[in-house]
Amino acid sequence: MPRVALVTGGTRGIGAAISKTLKTAGYKVAAAYHGNDEAAQKFKAETGIAVYKWDVSSFEACAAGVKQVEADLGPVDVLVNNAGITRDAQLHRMKPEQWTAVINTNLGSLFNMSRNVIEGMRARKFGRIINISSINGQKGQFGQTNYSASKAGEIGFTKALAQEGARLGITVNAVCPGYIATEMVKAMSQEVLETKVLPQIPIGRLGEPEEIARCVVFLAADDAGLITGSTLTANGGQYIA
Ligand code: CAA
Repeated sequence: MPRVALVTGGTRGIGAAISKTLKTAGYKVAAAYHGNDEAAQKFKAETGIAVYKWDVSSFEACAAGVKQVEADLGPVDVLVNNAGITRDAQLHRMKPEQWTAVINTNLGSLFNMSRNVIEGMRARKFGRIINISSINGQKGQFGQTNYSASKAGEIGFTKALAQEGARLGITVNAVCPGYIATEMVKAMSQEVLETKVLPQIPIGRLGEPEEIARCVVFLAADDAGLITGSTLTANGGQYIA
């Protein structure tokens, strides 16, 4: 029986690459998304991957979404918490809404999603939870107190839940991408990207979404059971933790 993988933010950017790579590796994949219907329908038509729409910052929406995915595809074996947003601003200009949106979506979603799959994983004595954190959770980033806090929080969550799942065949790991060529990074000012970010990347280029997807497939595998609580960095040498 193929294993079932659920990827949040799974129809665009890094998440789309993760969904596709997991499908190629033999998983039954569900890709959850929230905002962009057009991109999701295009993704579904191109890949044949099932798409589901809900807001990962809502616990109730996650409970209903997971229930639907499990009814359609079967119990979730692999959860990839990838959905994330930015609302960049220096703290002295940051509005409370910019703080709460980022914390609730990026970090709140780890509770909302993992809580809704963890009991099943414990009962079946197998699970893989992979959290897509960020280089900016490891090193901090100018203009991202909200985002850096959420991404650092994801690493703490990963390390704690790894300890709880270890005896039950559930591994929990974080992947920390650097700057990847996605809409999120391209939305930055070109000047900031070229003068502040690119010069700091020793390999001299942005990463590709597929380079993150291969980290996820590695951690999701049945024979990756020894690896738990780890943080896998993939950032072209920009920050060596
Ligand atoms: N380090 C140090 N100083 C910086 C800086 C940095 N990274 N970025 C800007 N500054 C300086 C500027 O040079 C400027 O100095 P001067 O006034 O002396 O010229 C001063 O700070 C103000 O800069 P801005 O005019 O840009 O400030 P702003 O308030 O208008 O904009 C900002 C702030 C929107 C946060 C902008 O700086 C920015 O976009 N920064 C990049 C944030 C970033 O890296 N986001 C990542 C998005 S991708 C992502 O998050 C994915 C992932 O996981 C990696």
